[in-house]
Amino acid sequence: MKVLITGGTSGIGKKTVELLSSNGHEVIFSGRDEKRAKHLEQATGAQFILCDISTVEGCAHLTQQYFDLHESCDVLINNAGLWSEGTIDNTSVREIEKVFAINTIAPIILSKYFIAKMKDSIDSGIQDHSKLIFVNSIAGLTSKAQREVYSSSKWAITGFTRGLSDELSEHKISVTNLCPGAVDTELFEHGGYPRDTSSMMDPIAVANAIKYIVDQPRDVKIKELAIQPSNYI
Ligand SMILES: NC(=O)c1ccc[n+]([C@@H]2O[C@H](COP(=O)([O-])OP(=O)(O)OC[C@H]3O[C@@H](n4cnc5c(N)ncnc54)[C@H](OP(=O)(O)O)[C@@H]3O)[C@@H](O)[C@H]2O)c1
Repeated sequence: MKVLITGGTSGIGKKTVELLSSNGHEVIFSGRDEKRAKHLEQATGAQFILCDISTVEGCAHLTQQYFDLHESCDVLINNAGLWSEGTIDNTSVREIEKVFAINTIAPIILSKYFIAKMKDSIDSGIQDHSKLIFVNSIAGLTSKAQREVYSSSKWAITGFTRGLSDELSEHKISVTNLCPGAVDTELFEHGGYPRDTSSMMDPIAVANAIKYIVDQPRDVKIKELAIQPSNYI
């Protein structure tokens, strides 16, 4: 399968690039960190596309770069994300905009662009089906105090995927809303809120769930999947 994953340079994305590449998939990953990307390209043979997806232009640029290099895409994994926490009083407007740009607007815009290409490829017989996988969060199904900005950016994706899954079923494109609980990655540090993540789930658990979804045959769709560390409620 030809797979594009956003945010492949660290955490869940990096593990997924490694796992899918070592299982024979052709993996293309995006991000902004060229140094990390170079190492990952060398270690896995996956291909990196440098792109900041925090603007609509960035999403268009990633789509353009991808389809300049590849005729089709079997699986788009919308994984890139940004953490935010704190009271609404203490959260800047700029941070709210940025979180929604990366967690909400980018996956929806990228999906729009890729779905059009996927439909063309399916209609012309280049591929027989496609998948969209959204790395959402348990926070996209629940909410709590001082997490409302991050949560709402992810709840939007739950609403989007539930409707989109039904809309696309007749087009042979499956949609999965994958909702992990706490994962031991640099997400919190990257968002500017470092914390001890050692008791959180290993990102390989999420990569394995992604591989499971990717490996499903055309006649099976997994609409929603929640995966949590067993020591968390
Ligand atoms: N860790 C958790 O507890 C947890 C739980 C549930 C869901 N999730 C979700 O899982 C996904 C992956 O997060 P992670 O935990 O693996 O965190 P991470 O290690 O911080 O990875 C985030 C990825 O997103 C990319 N990214 C961020 N901003 C970007 C931008 N403006 N343009 C392009 N790429 C950008 C980063 O790449 P560059 O730095 O190279 O740009 C990085 O590869 C996110 O959607 C997150 O919300 C995480």
